[in-house]
Amino acid sequence: MKRILVTGGAGYIGSHVVKMLGERGYNVLTYDNLSTGNPWAVVRGKLFVGDLANKNKLRKVFRDFKPDAVIHFSGAIVVPESISFPLKYYRNNVVNTINLLEIMEEFRVNKFVFSSSASVYGIPEIVPTPECAPLNPISPYGRTKLIVEKVLADISLSNSDFKYVALRYFNVAGADPEGEIGFAYPEPTHLVVRSLKVAKGEVNSLVIYGTDYPTPDGTCIRDYVHVMDLAEVHVIALEYLLDGGNSNIFNVGYGKGYSVKEVISSVERVTGKRLNVVEAQKREGDPPILIADISKLVKTFNWSPKYDDLDFIIKTGWEWELKFRR
Ligand code: UFG
Repeated sequence: MKRILVTGGAGYIGSHVVKMLGERGYNVLTYDNLSTGNPWAVVRGKLFVGDLANKNKLRKVFRDFKPDAVIHFSGAIVVPESISFPLKYYRNNVVNTINLLEIMEEFRVNKFVFSSSASVYGIPEIVPTPECAPLNPISPYGRTKLIVEKVLADISLSNSDFKYVALRYFNVAGADPEGEIGFAYPEPTHLVVRSLKVAKGEVNSLVIYGTDYPTPDGTCIRDYVHVMDLAEVHVIALEYLLDGGNSNIFNVGYGKGYSVKEVISSVERVTGKRLNVVEAQKREGDPPILIADISKLVKTFNWSPKYDDLDFIIKTGWEWELKFRR
């Protein structure tokens, strides 16, 4: 049974991947500092509470658990926050990743799946955006992801045994359709979760950041992907590496986009509630349109998503919201 170390396995995406790995028969260990994650979210394998800044703790985990591969989710993820607190992002997302990669090198663990982001493209010149598009991130968050991608490429040049897959996520949403886990960060900023909180009555109103973007209804367009489809791509990427696959980079989305207003309509449809919406100024660091070109993922792995339906994404998120109590 292969042994997989998952950093950030108590967080939103990580916990869904941990659940899937457990169900597929992997021996999985989560390493998480619980800064935004929750112990109850680790529903398969063990949780080791630790910070990536603590290399000795990490060393102990590598010595005892002897992972065959690492999937690395830990990191800070909020684009506007990264503009206000860049050092937090460079430390969490770059320095801590380098700590992890150093320990991997020490223990000769050579397979790595990395959570990258569509934010590495900045304002894309080509839409839908393929992996080979120019990389010009417009936020510190996006720059941290790009820096790590470059570090990974350099490591693989210096060590031919080191193989990685970087997955550039587009906008991830929804929850485990079985209702066991879902989004549970203390102060959600993401559109889908915030809209659901408004529907639930926990947040007063939904602010639309910008209504004069060059899009049909003036609001930003994003490619929303269900968290379970994204989780599946991690398992596929892991198995590709374990089978001897070469280092590679893939977009993960559905290849189609919805505007902020379309997401709000879907939330209203699914929840049966009318949202109190307030229109406001643009938020810094928001590209107008982000849609993935997923042909590489589809061709390489013959991938087909299971939950490619915005209302279904919102429905699973809503069911989780109704159930979830902090
Ligand atoms: N938005 C609102 N109101 C809100 C929240 C968001 O109008 O209350 C808008 C944003 O301005 C943006 C869109 O909804 O236009 C989506 O915003 P999110 O905050 O949900 O997500 P982002 O697109 O900013 O970022 C997310 C992830 C990143 C990832 C990016 C890639 O957080 O990690 O998607 O597409 F890089």
